Amino acid sequence: MSVEIYKLHKLMNDMNKDELSLLLSKFKCSRNKDSEYFLKKIAVRHEKKDISRTYVAIDTDADAILGYFTLALKCLSVDVADLDEDVIELMNLKDNVAQAYLIGQLARSDHAERGSGKMMLDEAIRSFFVGKDMFGCRMVRLDCRDELIDYYRSHDFRPIGKNPDKDLNQMARFI
Ligand SMILES: CC(C)(COP(=O)(O)OP(=O)(O)OC[C@H]1O[C@@H](n2cnc3c(N)ncnc32)[C@H](O)[C@@H]1OP(=O)(O)O)[C@@H](O)C(=O)NCCC(=O)NCCS
Repeated sequence: MSVEIYKLHKLMNDMNKDELSLLLSKFKCSRNKDSEYFLKKIAVRHEKKDISRTYVAIDTDADAILGYFTLALKCLSVDVADLDEDVIELMNLKDNVAQAYLIGQLARSDHAERGSGKMMLDEAIRSFFVGKDMFGCRMVRLDCRDELIDYYRSHDFRPIGKNPDKDLNQMARFI
């Protein structure tokens, strides 16, 4: 199997609309239907509006999407009373707001092998290191459900609070 990661932007340029819709329509992520919906219905619009950048891992032999991740910038307001001193120091807060890179989406397809998610996460972090080298910023953030806290902990993220609706955990990793 040969896997390549493509910018969604490139796929939008290289394929016609129907070809791209067909490719995206085959992506299945049963464990998280919101992730499936984002790729099929939202990612292209966000790409056009420069809200985020989506990267698609494709098995080029089978012409199938193995997974995708979406990166963006999103600052974070924090309540310092909830945070450890070392985290506060790392966040470079100004008026209790931290600048951060965001992993907005990360999902592997039902057919992709275990570990594909980690491969994409590593790729996302590599991209942020390029950003850090070019214009700074050391915090990577994402929001996840309770079931995924341990997964992200094992990839060097730590919980730093809850989102405003209190249904997701805000996780941060410092690079
Ligand atoms: C999160 C994800 C990308 C990780 O991929 P991976 O690195 O290849 O690792 P795995 O898929 O083997 O998952 C690792 C662990 O997380 C658990 N997990 C992953 N997604 C889960 C979900 N949506 N709900 C509950 N548990 C989940 C898996 O059960 C697994 O735990 P286990 O070792 O006890 O079986 C992938 O599991 C995925 O696509 N999940 C669905 C989409 C999703 O929920 N994305 C997270 C958005 S923050």
